Amino acid sequence: MDENTNLPEQIKAVYRSLFAFLIAFCIIAIGLITYIKNPNLFNNDSKSAETESEYVAIPQDDDFDKIENGIHVRTGFVEAEGLMETVNNCTNCHSSELVLQNRMSKERWIATIRWMQETQNLWDLGGNEAIIVDYLVTNYPVIAKGRRSALTDIQWYELED
Ligand code: HEC
Repeated sequence: MDENTNLPEQIKAVYRSLFAFLIAFCIIAIGLITYIKNPNLFNNDSKSAETESEYVAIPQDDDFDKIENGIHVRTGFVEAEGLMETVNNCTNCHSSELVLQNRMSKERWIATIRWMQETQNLWDLGGNEAIIVDYLVTNYPVIAKGRRSALTDIQWYELED
């Protein structure tokens, strides 16, 4: 008789463990399905699949970095040492025009780069920084503004009434 009175308790225990097993199974299944559908959800790396799939490759044919008359056609930069370092690092966020319309001393170029790094998410240029700054200072130096040279060979004309 002792066994009989214990029977409902045993059944309850079986049900309880079955129930616990079912819940555990559901949790694991949901986790697995979520992981299979989006593996990057569990990736702590901030660069998720989303940013990778948004990356659009720029088609590059033979003309992409064409140089014509000493000018890099795509950007307008003059061909000189450091051209590609400058093209690759300085035309990603804004047009090359923004670079070209500025003429600065070495210190001002470095200060501009620091400003972009501090406020505009410009990356650390590493060893390219010196190459880029040299390229800019050499090819786009500050033009001393002074009195213009005297005009020669002028064809004067009379104003009519
Ligand atoms: C991460 C993005 C980014 C990159 C890469 C970048 N810049 Fe800029 N830069 C900016 C932003 C944003 C501005 C502000 C644009 C504006 O005012 O419209 C700016 C402005 C400038 C200006 C104008 C500054 C002024 O005082 O008006 C110059 C010159 C310049 N950048 C040169 C460069 C050079 C040289 C490089 C390569 C070393 C470079 N940029 C790379 C983001 C960038």
